[in-house]
Amino acid sequence: MGINSKPVVFAVLSALVILVGTVVTVFVPMFMPSTQPVSAFVKPYTAIEQEGRDIYMREGCNNCHTQTVRPLRTEVLRYGEYSKAEEFAWDRPFLWGSRRTGPDLNRVGGKYPDSWHYKHMHSPQSMFALSNMPPYGWLASNRLDTSISFKKTKVLGYGYTEEQVNQQIADYKARVTASGYDSKETRDQVTPPALRGELTEMDAIIAYLQKLGRDVKSMEATR
Ligand code: HEC
Repeated sequence: MGINSKPVVFAVLSALVILVGTVVTVFVPMFMPSTQPVSAFVKPYTAIEQEGRDIYMREGCNNCHTQTVRPLRTEVLRYGEYSKAEEFAWDRPFLWGSRRTGPDLNRVGGKYPDSWHYKHMHSPQSMFALSNMPPYGWLASNRLDTSISFKKTKVLGYGYTEEQVNQQIADYKARVTASGYDSKETRDQVTPPALRGELTEMDAIIAYLQKLGRDVKSMEATR
């Protein structure tokens, strides 16, 4: 007469074993620091980068682009250092994606100058005739709405004060509208005259693209 002939005892005992197993393998690691790596190099998005990220999600860029470089030789050769868990500490939600109609973008920050992005977003086909990426030139005709930027950074826990957020917005605006901005010519070509002195959705999405993978690059530079 083993335990097999006592169905109730057997059911209760196996439920207990599964419960303990779940607690040990799922819930305990959830609260262990080693499963939540933190890097001092990984900084939260600025208010402008966050706005750009929201536009990226709104436009569904993540349906064609992944943001995770797998630790495979072919990927590392093509995109650069593979993605680390701590890089995504501020990503809510994460945008790893699952489909690569276009290339992975996790290491695109700093790969090209802003002018390249203005041109490419305006017309991918002018740069790669066979590109099936849709043109997003109209983003430069939309003034960037920063009215709830502070609220967003607050909800996401970035820890900025309202003054810091206003400063970030003012700084980025000053940067892209300056007469000495290195990508001024291309920006002016794609931005309608009335909005050249303002921040547009195009400016924000480019700020976001230029941030991707930047923290990891500075981490490597100090090694
Ligand atoms: C229909 C699929 C599709 C969508 C949607 C799409 N892309 Fe692309 N993207 C591509 C393809 C294909 C390429 C490669 C050819 C090229 O550069 O145009 C590409 C290239 C890129 C590149 C250059 C990457 C590199 O390393 O050279 C960037 C940056 C980019 N896309 C950003 C975006 C952003 C931002 C959005 C959303 C506003 C977006 N894409 C939406 C298909 C897409």
